[in-house]
Amino acid sequence: MEKRKVIIDCDPGIDDSLAILLALNSDELEVLGLTITSGNVPARMGAKNALKTLQIANRLDIPVYVGEEFPLQRKLITAQDTHGEDGIGENFYDDVKGEILEGGVDFIIDTLKREEKVSIIALGPLTNIAKALMKDKDGFDNLDEFVSMGGAFRIHGNCSPVAEFNYWVDPHAADYTYKHLPKKIHMVGLDVTRKIVLTPNIIEFINRLEKEKSKFITEITRFYIDFHWQQEGIIGCVINDPLAVAYFIDRNLCKGFDSYVEVVHDGVAIGQSIVDSFNFYKKEPNAHVLTQTDEKAFMKMFLKRIFKGYEEIIDATEGVI
Ligand code: RIB
Ligand code: CA
Repeated sequence: MEKRKVIIDCDPGIDDSLAILLALNSDELEVLGLTITSGNVPARMGAKNALKTLQIANRLDIPVYVGEEFPLQRKLITAQDTHGEDGIGENFYDDVKGEILEGGVDFIIDTLKREEKVSIIALGPLTNIAKALMKDKDGFDNLDEFVSMGGAFRIHGNCSPVAEFNYWVDPHAADYTYKHLPKKIHMVGLDVTRKIVLTPNIIEFINRLEKEKSKFITEITRFYIDFHWQQEGIIGCVINDPLAVAYFIDRNLCKGFDSYVEVVHDGVAIGQSIVDSFNFYKKEPNAHVLTQTDEKAFMKMFLKRIFKGYEEIIDATEGVI
């Protein structure tokens, strides 16, 4: 099977870290590099966090590039209340010996020029993507597919009644990307990701399977679970980003529809993804908006790939965890 080449643009971030783990444990993917944008945490901190996840996955061979430190126009507002001061659950891990490269935007541009059929899985604000588009739009003609975890269609936001964090942090970049990317954006929004909940049961279960990866996942999600209890009164944590990776690998995990989408730049609805599902604007669809997902199938895929060798017991957990 030919591996699909991907760049993962992200803002690690607890769920970004889980998404990177999933991608690195998926034989369908060749991860060409990680480009880091500011979002959950400032980009340089995110880059350090990315190295930690690569170390856990024994993949420090994958290059990590720092991208844009600030949104196109807004001042940076991070989500360290949610992901911890360090961006991965306030574990304050020692720095990992690994290289952090400069030039995330140029890495995207150069890779699209050099490699055939590269896809981008974007798990954070779209600042790096918008900057790359502004710098070399033609280079994106080589882009194979584009998946973005972001936006909200028929569900409430997580930064305002209507706005999802990634598009709220940098609405100008999100809107620019929806208006200029030459390929349809697969919008993996809160409508589907809110259904993906990592529960204490699952964490208890994985700790019975193996030690190292489950310890890392347990450590980085504890803070996130506390946040979810305080903010939303749920026991567990919504892991948005891994669904974007899983959907890129297996389209059957989600259902959706094509629509024109744009993102609100300012005002009370800043960051809202406007999904023109009734085609009021009579514009060509620029997005495939996801509205349904099979959360059980996702969780099985997530666990079976990260915890290889335990596929049978994971399959047998239907309804148990
Ligand atoms: O709204 C959720 C998204 O914002 C996720 O990608 C999370 O990591 C944050 O970046
Ligand atoms: Ca993210």
